[in-house]
Amino acid sequence: MTLILALETSCDDTCAAVITADGTLRSNVISSQGIHDAYGGVVPEIASRHHLELVNAAVDDALRRAGATLDEVGLVAVTQGPGLVGALLVGVASAKAIAAARGLPLAPVDHLQGHVAANFLRVDGGEPIIEPPFVCLLASGGHTLLAGVEDHDGFSVLGRTLDDAAGEAFDKGARLLGLPFPGGPALERLARDGDPQAFAFPVARGLVGLDFSFAGVKTALLYRVRDLGDDAAREQAADLAASYQHAIVEALALRCEQALEQTGVERLAIGGGVAANGALRARLRRLGVTLGIPPRELCTDNAAMIASAARYVRPQSFPAYLALDAYASGERALA
Ligand code: KG4
Ligand code: ZN
Repeated sequence: MTLILALETSCDDTCAAVITADGTLRSNVISSQGIHDAYGGVVPEIASRHHLELVNAAVDDALRRAGATLDEVGLVAVTQGPGLVGALLVGVASAKAIAAARGLPLAPVDHLQGHVAANFLRVDGGEPIIEPPFVCLLASGGHTLLAGVEDHDGFSVLGRTLDDAAGEAFDKGARLLGLPFPGGPALERLARDGDPQAFAFPVARGLVGLDFSFAGVKTALLYRVRDLGDDAAREQAADLAASYQHAIVEALALRCEQALEQTGVERLAIGGGVAANGALRARLRRLGVTLGIPPRELCTDNAAMIASAARYVRPQSFPAYLALDAYASGERALA
């Protein structure tokens, strides 16, 4: 069967993956650079340089793990944007080179559409995780939005964050609690030992429509940590983490519930790094609707989701795609 080889380098993970033409996952290589922790965030120029060093090895590894060679690849896919433009360019240039050398078509993929399309993958040889129509909560370090997914090749935005992304709220909260970057997983681990009801952090309920806001909860944590003082804040770090996580999860779950009500669709999927959060996954399972919850490694940035989205993108042929450029911002997939 013809294979799809995909690259994803929009942020700090150098990713390559192979899937079959029917969306069956064959390999999913994620090389986390792990060099940004010291800076408390991703340094774009450092990310680009590391992508350059890692990208060929990631592609080789993805092919090897898939038990495949380039001869079996019929389509190359790559994240075109949004993301860090220097980082994206490494993936785009590499994908062009592989495709051009082999005379293969190239499919440019929108990163957010990729997160949605993670749900169309067949994992362990089974059925796709969930099929449209569904509402999809996309919550990552750079984006938080509710997508109305009617079909495989696009989505409409039902609501979005007015300030911070949910992942950003996790990262900033983690920083206030002295945890390492990226903060989401670290904060989740700490929260396991804490009481989510210990502190009442605000859940932005008053917003009109389906938009989100996370600036208030972050500021509330900042003031609470200040009021407690260093020693008490350290002693109660687990309670602070659990309560803070609870407020973010509630805000996300509440909007999902409202979106399901508004659209009349009883199917919900999730994507983006925050979708890896166990408390969020447990909370959404209690909504009582049909759920699409990809495995954690398909929620955080990965190339398998880009390959999955590429199945529904019109590929470009040589030499047209040599002019393809990356884009840093925007949501190309808007309906
Ligand atoms: O989708 P992603 O891997 O990269 C972006 O496109 O941004 O998302 C990364 C974000 C980070 O903010 C990270 O802290 C958050 O997802 N994240 C989590 C968890 N794992 C990753 N947030 C909460 N709980 C987690 N387990
Ligand atoms: Zn992402």
